[in-house]
Amino acid sequence: MQIHQFDAVIVGGGGAGLTAALHASRQAGIAVISKLYPTRSHTGVAQGGIGAALGNQEEDRWEWHAFDTVKGSDYLADQDAVEVLCREAIDNVFELEHMGLPFDRTENGTIAQRRFGGHTSNFGEKPVPRACHAADRTGHMILQTLYQQCIKNNIRFFDEFHVIDLIMSAGKPAGVIAVELASGDLHIFHAKAVMIATGGWGKVWQITSNGYTAAGDGASMVLRRGLPLEDMEFYQFHPTGIYRMGILITEGVRGEGGVLLNDKGERFMEEYAPGIKDLAGRDVISRAIYLEIQQGRGIGGKDYVHLDITPDTVNKYLAAAGASRRIDRRHIESKLPDIRDFCRTYLGIDPVIEPIPVQPTAHYAMGGIPTNANAEVVIDAKNNILPGLYAAGECACVSVHGANRLGTNSLVDLVVFGRRGGQAMAQYCKEADFVALPENPAEEMRARLDKLRHSNGTIRTVELRKRMQQTMSDFVGVFREAKGMQQAVDTIRELKEHYQNDLKIEDHGYIFNSDLIEAWELGSLLDLAEVTAVSALARKESRGSHAREDFPKRNDEDWLKHTLIHRTTLGKLKLDYKPVVITHYQPKERIY
Ligand code: FUM
Repeated sequence: MQIHQFDAVIVGGGGAGLTAALHASRQAGIAVISKLYPTRSHTGVAQGGIGAALGNQEEDRWEWHAFDTVKGSDYLADQDAVEVLCREAIDNVFELEHMGLPFDRTENGTIAQRRFGGHTSNFGEKPVPRACHAADRTGHMILQTLYQQCIKNNIRFFDEFHVIDLIMSAGKPAGVIAVELASGDLHIFHAKAVMIATGGWGKVWQITSNGYTAAGDGASMVLRRGLPLEDMEFYQFHPTGIYRMGILITEGVRGEGGVLLNDKGERFMEEYAPGIKDLAGRDVISRAIYLEIQQGRGIGGKDYVHLDITPDTVNKYLAAAGASRRIDRRHIESKLPDIRDFCRTYLGIDPVIEPIPVQPTAHYAMGGIPTNANAEVVIDAKNNILPGLYAAGECACVSVHGANRLGTNSLVDLVVFGRRGGQAMAQYCKEADFVALPENPAEEMRARLDKLRHSNGTIRTVELRKRMQQTMSDFVGVFREAKGMQQAVDTIRELKEHYQNDLKIEDHGYIFNSDLIEAWELGSLLDLAEVTAVSALARKESRGSHAREDFPKRNDEDWLKHTLIHRTTLGKLKLDYKPVVITHYQPKERIY
């Protein structure tokens, strides 16, 4: 077994991990450990833009961005953190630009911006173009740009290493244990500080925009260590995934003028959000699509609607709204080239000519590992931290997204808090000493992995995963109610029993054993499915993405608070709550 030593290790090579690495590496010895080649990380899925109030095309202010973020969050976001997010977004976007990120440009050469859901000027007055974009490949471009900078700065990368545990010694983080996928060897990474930046867990659900690797590795690792997760009941369904496949069709399509139509050809968002229509919050639009389908207005009676970006349709609505702007084929080709490709590849249609069949797709975890605005991991309702442990990006919960994230704010989150976390971690490393590794640090994990490798039961990983995904989609999806959620809790627990006692692994080897790794990932997903369902069942109100049919109203009196959930030493889940930070924006009814 190899032992490596670095001041700090960052688990995850997506946008948050790379940003943190870049900033920490100026003062400390850093390694990035990633189960993928970093530029294949899930940040690439964020297509349409990164929000920042640059005001390049219309007047904008970071305070308006903050208001939209708080309103979008259904007032659950911590407003002090939101202010940091929106204020620092501007400088972070310029920093990316200076690193060479090829943003689209306005006619006068500044960064081009487009409209996105819930982004408005003057505290909700009218839509404002705030999403800085590189066509519909913004996330990809961020990854490429950051990775080039990391290589230039000689950051050490351990690609295709899957981290399976956080090493704790004398109550402090002392590093991580990883499996080298090519050999199956275990490696110890001894470090003064650890940052978790492992992304989300969309694979808990059946239809998802998330890649296969979005298995919640970091969040579940923290949970296994008895630390809390925050606001796990809030999971975002993006309204426009490709029907049946879930592949993301960016909100940028609607930002460019695309509209949602039901089977009768009606632009149904006019009814659900008369002010802002197809650019309402994602939770509002996902629910509207479900209701249209439920009332028999899905296309051909099926469970999807149309997203129409054909120039004729878009121009008709632009003209009706009195706008002078018109779009044509060339505009779509230059602003949405990947979307056009996805539609041609996966659906055999050209969105310039035909509407796109879409349905809501599991997209983003608002909850996760609780942190403060320096990405330090928080361990209780009093916001005490665990020194030396950091988290950033989707796996973290700062909380800036509250109950529902605004589109483009995931990319803002990962650069703003990746940078802050990287800087804070480097400072910590200057002052802290290495904590001695415990004796035989990998023994327990080796035994667990070997037990899994030699599982010889009757049920394959894929079968258990499908049942989990079906259960969570049926009962802990866009709409929820007590009976279904209880059924989800019971079923997930039953699946966990099967996982422990009756799993079948075919490949008992060591070299690129994807059978084993998939099974390991399923263990993480089951843990996160369970805490999601338990947290959701406990919250007896509707707020943002958590829409309960049995408690249809938001209830600020009892539920304007964050959920914390952790596993006790006896293996039971325990819920706790902590207050929401409110600075300027008092909770109001959310009308779009
Ligand atoms: O619709 C999109 O392009 C997704 C962006 C996001 O999730 O922020």
